[in-house]
Amino acid sequence: MKKIKNREFIFSCSTNAFQIEGGRNLGGRTDSIWDEFTKRNFKIPPVGSAEREINSIEIAADFFHKYKTDANIMKNLGLNGFIYNMDWTRIFPKNSTYINPEGLKWHIDMFETMVNNGIKPIPIIFHWDTPMWAEIQGGWENPSILDWFRNYCKVIFKYLGRYTDMWFVNDENSTFTLSAYLSDYMPPAKNNPTAFAKAIHHLNLSAAIAKQEFDIAKKEGYLDKDALLGIDHDWSPAIPLDPKDVNDLKAVEDYNEWFLDFWLDPNLKGTYPEFFYKWIEENNIDFKIKESDMDLLKNNTLDFVGWNYYRPCFVSSFDKDLSNIKLKKKTETFFVKKFKVLFPENGVRYTDWNWIIDPSMLEPGAKIISKKYDNKPMMIVENGLGDFDNKSEDMIIDEKRIEFLKEHIEAVLKAKENGVNFIGYSMWTYCDIFSPSGGYRKDYGLVSVDFNSPIRERKPKLSYVWYKKVIASNGKDLSINIDELKKQLEEELIQWDLFKK
Ligand code: BG6
Repeated sequence: MKKIKNREFIFSCSTNAFQIEGGRNLGGRTDSIWDEFTKRNFKIPPVGSAEREINSIEIAADFFHKYKTDANIMKNLGLNGFIYNMDWTRIFPKNSTYINPEGLKWHIDMFETMVNNGIKPIPIIFHWDTPMWAEIQGGWENPSILDWFRNYCKVIFKYLGRYTDMWFVNDENSTFTLSAYLSDYMPPAKNNPTAFAKAIHHLNLSAAIAKQEFDIAKKEGYLDKDALLGIDHDWSPAIPLDPKDVNDLKAVEDYNEWFLDFWLDPNLKGTYPEFFYKWIEENNIDFKIKESDMDLLKNNTLDFVGWNYYRPCFVSSFDKDLSNIKLKKKTETFFVKKFKVLFPENGVRYTDWNWIIDPSMLEPGAKIISKKYDNKPMMIVENGLGDFDNKSEDMIIDEKRIEFLKEHIEAVLKAKENGVNFIGYSMWTYCDIFSPSGGYRKDYGLVSVDFNSPIRERKPKLSYVWYKKVIASNGKDLSINIDELKKQLEEELIQWDLFKK
């Protein structure tokens, strides 16, 4: 097995265990909070509607059984990186100390298969999927989770460290804690400000603890000396609704403090912005941050930044009268009540799932992050288009996805040229998977998955052959010639039987 070292720029695809893997109760695994949540809240809206579908993740895209086939498909695509959000519960299904040999072996085999196919696995240690045994004991609200998490990190660095030199600790602490602790959209659905404060603080500390274990694993020879450990954050850079209105400009500053500094400062600078302490005090949140915790954060900051860029957002001052503005969907307010996030109807592009499409804030956003965090290496960890793909024809022609990816990759490469320390781009996602907001009706993949077929048959989309060309040219050829791509897809489909296992 040859480990893949950092190359100039990594073109990768990302995905996440509970969204792709299936095999939920196989190989000694038990339930996580997402298993429990999807079973309890099962909901299938009418066919074709862009509403939330909460479906079974029992099989999902069956990556649990099909990772070898998938590694072949990824090799054929030319991928050099594969970001995988790992499954804590598969390795620790009972408690914080019992290591499930089958779960560990599955991960070792999967990582080794990727490496043997020329693909660098880039693991994300935690993506919202707390094991049920941990949740029952208070989950991220209980400080003991830090010991449990430490053990998890120790084990994965020891057994998987040899396969890669790039790791992330947590994916989107923002989405997780806002949707699962400050509201009840996702599990564990707490809807409680104190639970939110505790959870976010413990998640931040978990990254510092992972960093401690990372350094130990380096000393013990389980990880490369130059291996990197990062944090992955989802930030939609703000556009002032009226760039001439000073109140909207101030709202953008407030928004960025809460949606950027608050989520990244703790793990990149070892600090919290002052307003967090103030918020805790003013809102009588029953929680205190210890000085020793801040020392832990300060002494264990992370090496690089993952950024999930799907879209920017429009922001106005909290009190702004919006009655004259035509809005596409409901305005969002945030618990600090300093700004509003809104969705103007006119002059803005939207996906069929009502997500803004606009790559224009990628470069300025990347520059803001770079400046704040000393030009640390940065990687786009998620960027992609959720759509209703037409899967009824022989060829899946997802032109909109290609346009979307092209515009965004262009912006990344331009930012890189202009000095942002981008080391990679990873699109969301390799194949169609379970989407937390759209179930199996919201397609993101380069590879289509037939969720009605017992073998979860894979098929390349037009975007697959386009991304293949992008990777082969190392990002130089982003052109779109639909006729040409269709011919290539036809050729791809002729030899596709190879991947039908
Ligand atoms: C990211 C998450 O924020 O958004 C993914 O990390 C998710 O898990 C992706 O799939 C797209 O969101 P959705 O809800 O459209 O699938």
